[in-house]
Amino acid sequence: MSMRVTPQEAPCGALIEGVDLRRPLAPEQVAAIRAQWLQHQVVAFPDQQLQLEDLERFAATIGPFGVDPYFGSVPGHPHVAQVRREAEEQTAIFAETWHSDWSFLASPPSATVLYGDIIPPVGGDTLFANQYAAWEALSPSMKSLLKDKQGVHSARRGYARDGMYGERDKGRSMAIRYSDSAMATQLHPIMRAHPETGRPALFVSMGYTIGIDGMTEAEATPILLELFAHQSQPEFVYRHRWSQGMLVMWDNRCVLHAATGGYQGHKRLLHRITVAERTT
Ligand code: SIN
Repeated sequence: MSMRVTPQEAPCGALIEGVDLRRPLAPEQVAAIRAQWLQHQVVAFPDQQLQLEDLERFAATIGPFGVDPYFGSVPGHPHVAQVRREAEEQTAIFAETWHSDWSFLASPPSATVLYGDIIPPVGGDTLFANQYAAWEALSPSMKSLLKDKQGVHSARRGYARDGMYGERDKGRSMAIRYSDSAMATQLHPIMRAHPETGRPALFVSMGYTIGIDGMTEAEATPILLELFAHQSQPEFVYRHRWSQGMLVMWDNRCVLHAATGGYQGHKRLLHRITVAERTT
């Protein structure tokens, strides 16, 4: 079977067919998939029909398993989390705010792998925003203001006791575990060179960036709000439509993503693994 790649008509994303992820991949197949992922930032493999063991084996070919600090895992699968919403659930849609997964960690994940088990007939698309393009499109003065600045990242808006998924978040079927550890902060360059491609990408997000190092809140807030509005403009966004049995892998170092709703009355269930940076 030979791999076929169809780029999306969008600022990022490609469909990969002709590869069976139920079987161990040869090193040259892994290298080819990684190359497409680095080029297109978001790759989708339709019609895979995977077991969790297949998902784990695939993720482990991309890099070491990452940590998921605020998710419970699937019993017997410590690296697999469920992104889940029941048909009649009334909670806010999980992850509707633009973000790069776990960017508040000292070493944020390289990839996230998400597999669609139960996909609603309407809604539930995932949006991806190309942050190479977002950085590139900033004005020269904004680039020079931000070039050597660090963003302050924190999980507090989501996962602190008083956060979106904190103690007031009742009735959620997804295993989210809030914690006081979410108050911690971590600095990352706002213009972050991608560790594998070397290309500069804008590395802030509404979900996890709460300040700019060395600036007061009054100085940083208008800049961050301008960046948040800029980085998710339609010209940078690919809207991904799911189908059952589809695996999607994105590159957290150069895309943001956001979930969408629109499927009330339908169950949605996906399985997710985060992949850490490779050390070699
Ligand atoms: C996520 O951010 O991992 C979930 C995305 C989605 O549910 O579409």
